[in-house]
Amino acid sequence: MFPEIRLRRLRKGKIRDLVRETILSVDDLVMPIFVNENIDSPVEISSMPGIYNLPLSQVAKEAKEIADLGIPAVILFGVPAFKDAEGSSSCGEADVVQEAVRRIKAELGDRLVVITDICMCEFTSHGHCGIVDFETKEVLNDPTLEVLGKIAVSHAKAGADMVAPSGMMDGMVAAIREALDIAGFENIPIMSYAAKYHSCFYGPFREAAESGYSFGDRSTYQMDPANGDEAIREVTLDVTEGADILMVKPALPYLDIVYRVKSEFGMPTAAYNVSGEYSMIKAAAARGWIDEKKAIYESLVSIKRAGADFIITYFAKDAARMLK
Ligand code: PBG
Repeated sequence: MFPEIRLRRLRKGKIRDLVRETILSVDDLVMPIFVNENIDSPVEISSMPGIYNLPLSQVAKEAKEIADLGIPAVILFGVPAFKDAEGSSSCGEADVVQEAVRRIKAELGDRLVVITDICMCEFTSHGHCGIVDFETKEVLNDPTLEVLGKIAVSHAKAGADMVAPSGMMDGMVAAIREALDIAGFENIPIMSYAAKYHSCFYGPFREAAESGYSFGDRSTYQMDPANGDEAIREVTLDVTEGADILMVKPALPYLDIVYRVKSEFGMPTAAYNVSGEYSMIKAAAARGWIDEKKAIYESLVSIKRAGADFIITYFAKDAARMLK
């Protein structure tokens, strides 16, 4: 009790460094990359200053820059030239993500872990994350699973090191695990977007990935932001189905979920610091309302403190430079 105990004693100078509990490192970062088949030169995403849609010809160069900063991994999102109701350009050998994976792996080999997002929304003309029954306007769960398995196998064939299903279909992890194993990819890990909320913070991403939807919204498959116990049920299922890494998304508004997932399962846990979280800091910093670097550090270290082992973030390159 005061005056014997004075916590301020440890808050000065180098002592403060000595007792720091959470260390943010470049090894904790995953950088997203958007590759777009419709463009010839990089196009900045207007709602995400500093983040670009890249043509295939630039993707290896960008990946090399990321690897040279010491960042261990990227997650790839593709925008195809052709979209239809079945998302048929999601799983061909020469489609955009598969081609991007091959180019990055040819340039960098084991220097960079290439993770691919497994979802249909960037490839469907209606923008939903699965096969749609147009009469009932329903996103059909079980017919979608087969497609997700095909996408995962096509990515693994192209050389992806890890796949990350993000569509929140029931049974997606099991379906992908089975498809990968049958195709001989039993050593490819699955990072499941296990607790993914129906969040407005994905808004800027949908501009970037051209994945906005033509009717309804994603609330019939993504989780209600008001629910915490349901996240534990979602994660339990994914663990049972064979997920290797659990992800919580978004990150900052859901730190309680990150904490619960890490403490209840003790499994490798990722958090996705999503597009809206990026844009808010960028917008405030551009107006001089917030110190950008400090806001980045404080956000990322808080996500780690909550229990994330690593963070998928559009700030990965900025943070890697800051941590040098
Ligand atoms: C695809 C997907 C989305 C994000 C990652 N994968 C969009 C969505 O679910 O609508 C969002 C990422 C971000 O906002 O940064 N299903």
